[in-house]
Amino acid sequence: MDPLTKLTRIWLTRSIRPFIFKNEFDQKLPYINCDNLGLYVHIPFCKDICDFCPYCKVRYSKKLCDMYIDSLVKEIHLVGKRHNAKKTATSLYFGGGTPALAAGRLREIIGALKEHFIITQGIGVELHPDDAVPHVLKILKDAGVTKISIGIQSFGRKFQSVLGRKHINIATLKHALSEVPFETVSMDFIFALPNQTDGDLKEDIDTAFQNGANHVAIYPFIDFTFTPSTIHAMPKKEKRALLDSITAHCIKKGYTRTSIWTFSNDANARYSSMTRDNFLGFGCSATTLLKDQFKINTFSVKEYCQRISGDKLPTSLTIRFSLRQRMLYYLFWTAYSTKIDARDFEKFFGIPLKKAYGVELGLAKLLGLIVEDDGIYTMTPKGVFYYHHYENFHTLAYIDKMWKIMRKEAFPKEIRL
Ligand SMILES: C[S@@+](CC[C@H](N)C(=O)[O-])C[C@H]1O[C@@H](n2cnc3c(N)ncnc32)[C@H](O)[C@@H]1O
Ligand code: SF4
Repeated sequence: MDPLTKLTRIWLTRSIRPFIFKNEFDQKLPYINCDNLGLYVHIPFCKDICDFCPYCKVRYSKKLCDMYIDSLVKEIHLVGKRHNAKKTATSLYFGGGTPALAAGRLREIIGALKEHFIITQGIGVELHPDDAVPHVLKILKDAGVTKISIGIQSFGRKFQSVLGRKHINIATLKHALSEVPFETVSMDFIFALPNQTDGDLKEDIDTAFQNGANHVAIYPFIDFTFTPSTIHAMPKKEKRALLDSITAHCIKKGYTRTSIWTFSNDANARYSSMTRDNFLGFGCSATTLLKDQFKINTFSVKEYCQRISGDKLPTSLTIRFSLRQRMLYYLFWTAYSTKIDARDFEKFFGIPLKKAYGVELGLAKLLGLIVEDDGIYTMTPKGVFYYHHYENFHTLAYIDKMWKIMRKEAFPKEIRL
């Protein structure tokens, strides 16, 4: 790990103790007293594999997918039946991979979850553009899905070929979305691709809003070290100019920033599985964040199914947090929303935010990264850029390292970061 990342961790956690992930887990997960709990289900299958993509996924086969979903339903019951009472969960998101490939079985998975959880704020599913067709959308809607997110990446032919994606017929997409409406229709784009201009991105965003989206996500391209992709990340200065320009464009058009990289044109449109205080993850590579721990399931579909067949959770690694480490996780995930409410922090930890991180907040204000109003800290555009920048840094320093190992080893003994 580079010295700056290490020093930042030591400073913010007030300890030289690294993040230690061990090959152990609680068979009974302590989520019952966790409020603001989100649910996440990972479906790791794709028809074609994209070179740039870091996520846990394998090529789709019906047989493998069916075997996986049988295990997934079992994992849900393994976790859920250890507590008698039904637990309220704010949301349920299906991610991948391409969860819409298992559209026909989502009703069964949702049914299994509803035996143990009361889902209050809707159900979201990620789609590949190929799945955004009326008959698939109808199956999803009938299963109870209220939000969809389509991985467009770019409407421009130039970038579609850079990313190895097919051309998207916008009229067909618009027609499908008008045939089967959802509360939230989000579209994902990747920005900071080589030679991408603000004009290219503005066109992508406007095209999305004109053709059925009420929410867009613009993810900065991250060049993961373990992917075969040959696309290089854009230099920092260029990226900042691009981000500033699209932010200004979105604000001028009247779109609201709903998180660090999402905008919407409808107050009710929301698509975010990340800004939860706690979450439970099911399936390969899914993560679970609770009051005092964070755990990650194995990345191997075969080992996942094998563990479940022995009635054991498929957890690969668990970190038991120190209080400061947990605070850092809390602040990092909450900051995605661009806002941190000091009252929520104090409710969660029993310690005032100013007491825990007063110096850092003061410094961030002085540098023009945040503004404060009645205990709510909001990121300025400069703050958003530096968060993006740090996120890239964090992803390469922590997530890239961890995923690289976990893709090769189903159950590593220990990872220290
Ligand atoms: C699981 S995929 C979405 C659904 C579907 N599999 C698809 O690709 O259309 C999640 C999103 O992550 C983003 N993504 C993937 N690889 C990325 C990378 N290297 N850097 C930044 N964003 C990336 C893409 O925008 C993608 O839509
Ligand atoms: S970007 Fe989407 S479709 Fe491509 S490999 Fe990743 S999860 Fe699969």
